[in-house]
Amino acid sequence: MAQKTKKITPVKRAVSKIDVKDFSIAELARELNSFNIDNYWDLGKFLVDKVMPVARKQGMFEDQVMKMISSQPGIKFPFSVLKQCQQYYSYYPDVKKRSLPEVFYFDLATKVDESKRRDQYEKFALDYKWTISDLRKKIHDDGLARRIDERTKYGFDLRERNVWAFDTPDPRFGKPNFKGRIPGQIVANALYYYTKPGDYVLDPFAGSGTTADIIESLAHFNDRKFKLYDAHPIDERIARNNILLTGIPEQSNNIDYIFLDPPTEFTQKDSSSDFEVSLDASRADFLLKFKGIIRECARVLKSGGKVSIVMEPAFAGKEFIDFPAEATQLFKELGFRQVGKVYLPKRSSESSMRIAQGIAEVKGIRALSSDCKELLTFQKP
Ligand SMILES: C[S@@+](CC[C@H](N)C(=O)[O-])C[C@H]1O[C@@H](n2cnc3c(N)ncnc32)[C@H](O)[C@@H]1O
Repeated sequence: MAQKTKKITPVKRAVSKIDVKDFSIAELARELNSFNIDNYWDLGKFLVDKVMPVARKQGMFEDQVMKMISSQPGIKFPFSVLKQCQQYYSYYPDVKKRSLPEVFYFDLATKVDESKRRDQYEKFALDYKWTISDLRKKIHDDGLARRIDERTKYGFDLRERNVWAFDTPDPRFGKPNFKGRIPGQIVANALYYYTKPGDYVLDPFAGSGTTADIIESLAHFNDRKFKLYDAHPIDERIARNNILLTGIPEQSNNIDYIFLDPPTEFTQKDSSSDFEVSLDASRADFLLKFKGIIRECARVLKSGGKVSIVMEPAFAGKEFIDFPAEATQLFKELGFRQVGKVYLPKRSSESSMRIAQGIAEVKGIRALSSDCKELLTFQKP
């Protein structure tokens, strides 16, 4: 059966000599430095009982004060450690009277947000005589299980951070052999973050119908209404429309969310062409097309509506065009506010194809290639 971990002995230290009423961040930092690096509970007590009340009186938030202290020259505690100490003491001011070794409570305070769950873990650790490794493993495994539950709940691979890499497109969304099909998981995550129940969703470059497949097959998005267009529609859910010629055939102020996945030929030029000559032409061509597209988005979106666009830069020798930045500029000129930026690394099969082609050279200059698209999201004022 598991052994109890040894108690951490608190280090004896002198009582604070500074008067915290004369709130000086530099003095506080010096004072904090006199704490033993392992003595988290005492450090937390000092922060909670002495520093925070004074900070609050001066209208400062707790995190703000800790950030200021940790940015003082010579301070040995980063913000993350101060935060952990503060949580540790706040949740367990009576730690010395509790039955488990102190390290258990430090882990519970810093790794488990809900107090009910902290109490449950404490009870299990006592009843089953857990070691600290048992507790850590249990917290870790429960966290994983919760994330898997979330995914099952929504029915797709939900991402929590702003890099969405999907090596295999979800076979339920879009048509497998369609050139330029986007992994459906990207559209599903975009709908999750940028739409709400009942929203009217528009996809003017619908391709193989990925957006419709997601809305129709995932219960979480069933209540979204959608309209799809493409210059070359491939199924009955997609209406024929060339956005460059006829704009977006929708009424003004009618749409909640637009997903723009334009064809690569709108931005990427043939790398064998004379890029110096075509650089300005590429940018001019881009501006001509996208000014019109973005103006149409601004027209059909409701106020507060959002639009996401998939874009990547074009490299050529020492020159490159930062198309995501150019698109951002165009949206901002129309008063849109940027509300999201997600990196979309390309699939390894796409990257290895480029490795096999070797490093491109333009007039003897080695040229990097783009391996990552961006999903930029903007909100109409
Ligand atoms: C990158 S694909 C979109 C792929 C789609 N998201 C999917 O997952 O299948 C770009 C699409 O834009 C369409 N397209 C190209 N030029 C267009 C234009 N001027 N107006 C409307 N659609 C156009 C192409 O037919 C193609 O289906």
